[in-house]
Amino acid sequence: MEAVENDQSALENPPDPAPTPLQQPLSKSAQKKLLKQQRFEAKKAEKKALTKQQKRQDLERRRKEWEETLASVTEEERSKLIESRRSLRKERMEKRSEERGRKIERLTGARDWGQKIVIDLDFAHLMTPTEIHSLVQQIMYCYAVNGRCSSPCHLWLTGCEGEMGSQLQRLPGFDKWIIEKEDRSYIEALEDQKESLVYLTADAETVLEELDPKKIYIVGGLVDRNRWKGITMKKAKEQGIQTAKLPIGSYLKMSSSQVLTVNQVIEILLKFMETKDWKVSFFQVIPQRKRPEADSEGYQKVEGEEKEEKDDQLDSKKKCIEVPS
Ligand SMILES: C[S@@+](CC[C@H](N)C(=O)[O-])C[C@H]1O[C@@H](n2cnc3c(N)ncnc32)[C@H](O)[C@@H]1O
Repeated sequence: MEAVENDQSALENPPDPAPTPLQQPLSKSAQKKLLKQQRFEAKKAEKKALTKQQKRQDLERRRKEWEETLASVTEEERSKLIESRRSLRKERMEKRSEERGRKIERLTGARDWGQKIVIDLDFAHLMTPTEIHSLVQQIMYCYAVNGRCSSPCHLWLTGCEGEMGSQLQRLPGFDKWIIEKEDRSYIEALEDQKESLVYLTADAETVLEELDPKKIYIVGGLVDRNRWKGITMKKAKEQGIQTAKLPIGSYLKMSSSQVLTVNQVIEILLKFMETKDWKVSFFQVIPQRKRPEADSEGYQKVEGEEKEEKDDQLDSKKKCIEVPS
């Protein structure tokens, strides 16, 4: 998926602008960080261009091979080959359209019976355009993951206004997404269900043990490298709504903070809905490669290399180790 071709660290940590004469010069460590970031970006762009070129070459090679094959056979064999290719294509397209149909059914069904999860998009004013872009990519990823789930959640986007709204609108096919899009904030849109609202925040005291289908879980739509520390906790407190944190500490020892990215939180919730097992959910979503110690239970092989790569592109370089039981 093209959308995941973003490294979360890059997304969440755009290079600082060059200092103007009025600004303080960058400290040595900030300069080092900036240089590292720029090198990373350059490498990423190079890799992307290479992959694109490779794809083009592969396509061209296959086209040539096909033409050569056709040229080397009799008229009758050629017709057979063309016909067989046509029917293969048709089959593939039918399969895809069936899959799409099933996905639409699942997502439509989730509107009636799915676990409600809100992404609170009221923080655009606190993010840079790059961070907003990164958040939009994360939302796109969340939507795709939700669509693949056998029991998807009922996803809400609240506060889809301004820059946030226009960046979302630019996503291909966004208009057709089976998702609740709400310009108002969740507190207005879900006014009559205020008692059911639970803001998920790493700063909460309450630990989320189970998912209650009657509750509506809110995830803060923020990409901020925790620059706005405690902002969602403060917001929930002021609004008088419940808060809870994921039970990360009971299963993993993170080498950095327990603040996860939006897509990681949503994916963990989806995995938990499917498995009813926090440990499995954390281990499958928080990239194994980022853990300093290999876990002994083989979770690393669950979704293979491809998953590992996607995580690499979206996670925020969390490192974790399993808490010994
Ligand atoms: C990148 S974090 C934003 C951090 C932000 N400074 C804050 O105060 O929430 C994105 C969102 O994911 C959710 N989140 C991240 N880590 C979490 C955790 N350990 N437990 C519960 N929710 C978490 C929160 O809803 C959070 O707002």
